[in-house]
Formats: sequence, C-alpha cells, structure tokens
Amino acid sequence: MSKDILHNAKILLIDDDEAILQVIKYYFDKEGCKVSTATDGVMGLEIYSRMEPDIIITDLCIPELNGTGLLFAIKKISPETPVIIVSGVADKKDIIEVMRLGAADFIEKPILDMEFLKDSVRKNLSLRQRLREGRLHQKELEIEVDRRTAELIKRVSEIEILNEALKRELLEHELAVTELEVMRDGVIKSIATIGEQRDPYTAGHQLKVSKLGIAIARELKLSEDQIECIRIAGLLHDIGKISIPAEILNRPGALKKSEMNLIKDHSLDGYNILKRITFPWPVAELVYQHHERLDGSGYPRQLKGDEILMESRILSLADVVDAIASHRPYREALGEDFALKEIENKKDIYFDPVATDACIKIFKNGFNLQH
Ligand SMILES: [Fe+2]
Repeated sequence: MSKDILHNAKILLIDDDEAILQVIKYYFDKEGCKVSTATDGVMGLEIYSRMEPDIIITDLCIPELNGTGLLFAIKKISPETPVIIVSGVADKKDIIEVMRLGAADFIEKPILDMEFLKDSVRKNLSLRQRLREGRLHQKELEIEVDRRTAELIKRVSEIEILNEALKRELLEHELAVTELEVMRDGVIKSIATIGEQRDPYTAGHQLKVSKLGIAIARELKLSEDQIECIRIAGLLHDIGKISIPAEILNRPGALKKSEMNLIKDHSLDGYNILKRITFPWPVAELVYQHHERLDGSGYPRQLKGDEILMESRILSLADVVDAIASHRPYREALGEDFALKEIENKKDIYFDPVATDACIKIFKNGFNLQH
C-alpha cells in the first residue's frame, strides 16, 4: 500500500487565532506532517524561507501582511508551492482575487469537516509532486539533449578535422604526382631529343606524330589512359634509331637491303629500351608495333588485324602521314593532301579503316601538322 502523501509533508499554518492554529496543527500532526505555525504574514514569510514548506494554509485576515499579500509574495518566490486560503470573512470579490493570484484552494471558516481541508491538502500536494516530477523529467530530457548535441558537435568537429587532414594529404599526394609527371615528361622529352639530334631530318617528327595520334584518338573517343599512352609512345616511337649509324640515317638516296634491315630493327630496339621503364600503359608495346600493318605486311613481327593494338594502329597511321608529308633525306616533302590520299588508298589493307576515316576527318576540320 502506498504511503499517504501527508506523511512527512511540511506544512506552514498561518492564522492570528492561536486556537484555530492548534486545532488544525493537531489534525495534521496526527497524519505525520511536520507542521510549523505563524500568527502574522511577516512571521509566515520568515518561517517560509527557513523551512521551505511543501504547502501553506493561511487565513486572509492576518496582521502585518494580509493573506493576499502573503500569497502574492509566495507566488513570486515559489510559484509551485500551493497556498490554501482559509477565511470566514471573505466575499466573492476576495475569492476571485486570491484565485487569480494563484491560490490553490479557498476554504470557508469555520472548518466544519477537517477531512475536507485534508483532502484539499492531499490533492494539492499530489499536484505539486506531479508538477515537480514533470519538471524533473523535462530537465533530464534537456540535459540528455544537451549531452547529445555536445557529442554531435564534437563528432562533427572531429570529422571536419579529419576531412581537413585528408584534404591536405590528398593535396600533397596530388602535388607529388604532378611533380613526378612533370619529371617523367621532362625525361621523355630529353630521351626523344637525344634520338632526334642524331637524325635532324626527323627532328620534330615524334612530337608531330604524338599530336596527330592524340587528335585521332580524341576523335575516336578513346579513354584518357589510351590517349596518354599514345602521347608518350608518339614522343618516343623512333628512339630505337639511336642504334643506327648516323651516316645511314642521314644519307640521301636509296639504301641497301642490309641497311634497310638495320633501320627496321629500330622497332625492337625501341621496345627493348622502353620496356625497362615502368609506365602504367603499354608504351613499349606500342613502339614495338608501330610499323605493323593490318594485312601482316609490316615489321618486325608481321602482326595482323586485331593482333595490333588499336593505339598502335593510330600511332602507325600518324607516323605514316607525317613521314609522307614531311621532307626526308632521299626526297622532298610530299604534303598533307598526298599523305591523306595514300592512307585512303591503303585503308583496310595497311591501316585501320575507322582510324583512317577519323584522321582524314580531323584534317578536313583544320588539323595542321605544323602547329
Ligand atoms: Fe618508326
């Protein structure tokens, strides 16, 4: 059975009639309440501040500070402390006034049935308890919300710090990659230059083949990786010529068969030079295949059709177009139009038809080998 809410309840009784005070105190003492008494309003306030009662029962007509003033003061200090007004002289206006000020109940004197007052005290204590529990629960909820918000803010700030660190690392990584790419490009250009210095007639040839190869690859919508592979292979495709004596390379007029065979070795020699460099693309293989032809009439391995990488088919096309169009030790430059006619004639025989059409198209659209 649950304990009566009156048990141990702290009650402050205020009445200028000592006899009434003692009667009421007697009844509430019997219920196990802790009752304090005051005979005027000022004393009542003093005791209130000392004992902080759970409930106040006060007469309206009391000296020093009347019941209405006391009620007003208490409600200012502690709005949730119930104040029951007990009065025998009040009219309707007084009752309305004290209820408006927040009185918990109004009971007329003389109190004929003490149970009536006890019930009112019980009811108002219980209401106060529920209010306090509700506030406590609300306070707990607010603390929990604050805790979670603080946790969330901490997590967000941790994530932001982590993101910043990641961004910095990414930036450093990108810078390192860029530096490496710049360095690799410098090395590629240096190697290409070494080869071309021995063969002035083909100076710039590799750069032009690289540019034309890129343009054809872009027209065919090849991936960026394939385009990069063509770019580098274009810049280095004749590096194998470094093994050929300069007097053969630069001699005007026809070459002997043995000299031609020596020149043909440059595909394999280029492959052997470049295969030691770790590229993320098959650069060495492209160089190896750049003189192969679709019908198997090329060199050095007489590869056919799909045995030749698409990137190599583009590279060989670009190589032939620039070689025909440009000046050579053994002949004058034949020009771009002548070169394009040549590849058109050999389309599907030597050269990939799709790549050939793309090559002719980009020249029609204004591509120029010299720029
Ligand atoms: Fe070549």
